[in-house]
Amino acid sequence: MLLTQIDHVAIAVHDLEKAINYYRTAFGAEVAHRETVERDGVEEALLQVGESYLQLTTGTRPDSPISTFLERHGEGMHHIGYRVDDCAAALEAVVAAGGRAIDQTPRPGSRGTTVAFVHPKGSFGTLIELVQENTQD
Ligand code: CO
Repeated sequence: MLLTQIDHVAIAVHDLEKAINYYRTAFGAEVAHRETVERDGVEEALLQVGESYLQLTTGTRPDSPISTFLERHGEGMHHIGYRVDDCAAALEAVVAAGGRAIDQTPRPGSRGTTVAFVHPKGSFGTLIELVQENTQD
């Protein structure tokens, strides 16, 4: 099995502060990591859930993929991030199985990870992110 863990479930929201406060009030959730990825036009907050994260994410500009998603679908689940040991190998395997790569080769993600996205079409309607954690020192 190439997927070793659910890394994160990502939920697109209009107002990041409001969403964080909701999870804090309802469940006592704490923000474990927060990051703006300018290249992708997204801001995200990671809330630790066991060994995984709930990722609340919003767009930072109108042309960002999250802004486009919010405009088309409204708030809700955006993608699932699966942890893998080797992002390139997992991407190759999913493409060989008929998946449609959005990223042709792995690229830098947030938290210093290496990631690749696979299109919902060909993956039963779910946008998949393959997440390889790199050892940080
Ligand atoms: Co993600």
